[in-house]
Amino acid sequence: MPFVLAVAGKGGTGKTTLAALFVRYLAERPGKAVLAVDADPNSNLHEALGLEVDQTIADLLEETKAVGPLPAGMTRSQYVQYKLQAALVETDRVDLLSMGTPEGPGCYCYPNDLLRGHMAELAKAYDYLVIDNEAGLEHLSRRVAQDIDYMVVTSDATARGIRSAGRVAELVRSLKTKVGRMGLVVTRVRAGDELDVLREEIARTGLEVVGTVPYDEDVVRFDLEGRALAELAPGSPAVQAVYEIARKIGL
Ligand SMILES: Nc1ncnc2c1ncn2[C@@H]1O[C@H](COP(=O)(O)OP(=O)(O)O)[C@@H](O)[C@H]1O
Ligand SMILES: [Mg+2]
Repeated sequence: MPFVLAVAGKGGTGKTTLAALFVRYLAERPGKAVLAVDADPNSNLHEALGLEVDQTIADLLEETKAVGPLPAGMTRSQYVQYKLQAALVETDRVDLLSMGTPEGPGCYCYPNDLLRGHMAELAKAYDYLVIDNEAGLEHLSRRVAQDIDYMVVTSDATARGIRSAGRVAELVRSLKTKVGRMGLVVTRVRAGDELDVLREEIARTGLEVVGTVPYDEDVVRFDLEGRALAELAPGSPAVQAVYEIARKIGL
C-alpha cells in the first residue's frame, strides 16, 4: 500500500504549492512512483506540476451516469475502471488524477463505491499518494479518498489563520476517514513574523508544528508565469523548507 500524504487548509494558504513540492521531493527519490491527486475543484495542481488534464473524475462520473447501454460485454464496474484509467495523466515518475467539479448536489453519490474501490486498486501501484484537498474536505467527508497516513494542515502566520487551521483539524478528526498523524505547516512566513506570539494559538489547535515555509519571491513569480514548481532552483527557500518538512515527516 502507498504512503498517503494529504494537504488541507483554508484557500490561499499554500496547499497546492506545498503539495507540488512534496510531489517533487518524492519523485526525486530513485525508483519511487508517485500519484498526485487534485481534490480541489478550484485547484491548479496540474499547473504547479506542469501537467495538462483532459478529463477529471467528475467528468467521468457524469458520463458514467449519462451512459445508456454499456459497451458490449462490459460491466459497470469495468466501465468505471476503464474511465478512471482514461482520466489518469501519466508521466515517468509522477501520475496525476484530478477530481474536478461536481455539476450539482449529489453528483459524487452514484458510482462512489465503485470509484473508491477502483481508486484503492489503482493506488496500490504507487509508493506515494499526495492529495491536495479543497478547503471543505468534501472528498474526505464523502470517503472518496482512502485512509491517510499523514495530514498536513496549512496556515499563514496570523492568529486568524491558525484558528482556521484548528477548525480544519477538528473537521479532520470528525471524519470517518482514518488519519494517522497530523501536523501544522505555517506558510509564507516573512522575516519579522512573530511566530512566538502565535504559540498559544497554535497550542489550542492541538497540532504539532512540523515546519514553516518562508515567503519565496520565486514561488510568486512562477505562479504568475504559470511555470511548474519542478523548475524552481533546488536552493530556493521554499524548496529547501518543504524538503526539510518531508524528511521530518519521514518521507
Ligand atoms: N512560500 C510561498 N512564498 C510566496 N508565495 C507563496 C508561497 N506559497 C504559496 N504562495 C502563493 O500564495 C498563493 C496561494 O498559494 P496556493 O499554493 O495556491 O494555496 P492554496 O492551494 O491553499 O489555495 C499563490 O499565489 C502562491 O503562489
Ligand atoms: Mg490550491
